[in-house]
Amino acid sequence: MSHADIDPDELKRYSFSVWSYKMGEMVSLMIHIGDRLGLYQALDGAGAVSAAELAEKTGLKERWLLEWLRGQAAARLLNYHDGDRFELLPVGAAVLADEAGSLSFAAGAFSGTMPPETVDKLVDAFKTGIGLSYQDLGPNAAHRTERMLGPWTRQEFVPNILPALDGVVEKLDSGAVAADVGCGGGVALMAMASAFPDTEFHGYDPSQHAVDRCQEKVAEQNLDNVKLFVASGESVPSDPTYDFLITFDCIHDMTRPGEVISSIRKSMKPDGTWLIKDIRSQPDFKDNMRNPLLAMFYGFSVSACMSSALSEPGGAGLGTLGFNPAVAERMTKEGGFSRFRLHDFEDPSNLYYEVRP
Ligand SMILES: C[S@@+](CC[C@H](N)C(=O)[O-])C[C@H]1O[C@@H](n2cnc3c(N)ncnc32)[C@H](O)[C@@H]1O
Repeated sequence: MSHADIDPDELKRYSFSVWSYKMGEMVSLMIHIGDRLGLYQALDGAGAVSAAELAEKTGLKERWLLEWLRGQAAARLLNYHDGDRFELLPVGAAVLADEAGSLSFAAGAFSGTMPPETVDKLVDAFKTGIGLSYQDLGPNAAHRTERMLGPWTRQEFVPNILPALDGVVEKLDSGAVAADVGCGGGVALMAMASAFPDTEFHGYDPSQHAVDRCQEKVAEQNLDNVKLFVASGESVPSDPTYDFLITFDCIHDMTRPGEVISSIRKSMKPDGTWLIKDIRSQPDFKDNMRNPLLAMFYGFSVSACMSSALSEPGGAGLGTLGFNPAVAERMTKEGGFSRFRLHDFEDPSNLYYEVRP
């Protein structure tokens, strides 16, 4: 079919949809710059401000701020008022400014563009089949992941998720041994270690960048109940050690998830509990199509999750949406666990599985 035969309206619609993604790329970069410069915090509660007022408040250059502010208004992230004044409404502050207090905070997930060398390696991965591990993605990947996944874990995990598990809070309160496998920057580990000072916590991650990030926070918070290991999930002790173990958003990133699950089974005490958090997804792609952000999840998968899960020859390659409830139940049973309970804590991106020997 020649292009001349294409319905012009359909062509316009399709082109618009493609250019919208380019616009998304540009707006993403602007959100990252705004986040880096603390502009959303400066706008939060300030009412309608001019570029000159924002420059005065932040010490940044007015002309640059005016272009950024107009772009943010064009993206409908700021309200525009006559006389070139711009306002961040409370709803915008919840998503873009309030990292410590809002479950909807999202600005930390934006990172500007990927380094060209990483893009080159991803292009090569389509030819070789071998992807990049989280370590290969560099120190920024650990930081970005932590900021993207942090708000939910920091605000919900200890107060609302742990109490829903059978007997776990009691054990952690009275002094237990627990682990976070694939701990990344350690948001969940830190939250648990400071809430339960009598329990000893072990963090495992094969990425040195992630463990370094975790170590900085252990030192900042003066925690003496955390030990960290630059090691993958297969390295947990092979005798019953843990009363409680978590894997948060990482089974689908592993090259050998089956082996890690069997190792976790051996490391669990007979009455121990393993809490898995993994991406909310369905076995059938068509059912996942209802997720309006599905294309973003596939982007995460190719650029990070599936890439990590294929970063060694023979990797399982589950990817971001690959550890759905049916797969989780089957693989934990195959790994020797007998009890499986799904929890839906209304986390928009994740489901939780309480798994016991
Ligand atoms: C998406 S991050 C999640 C980090 C952290 N659990 C969180 O919720 O913030 C996935 C982590 O899994 C780690 N990972 C990948 N393969 C692993 C393996 N075989 N064993 C343990 N961790 C692994 C990566 O290095 C990365 O830090």
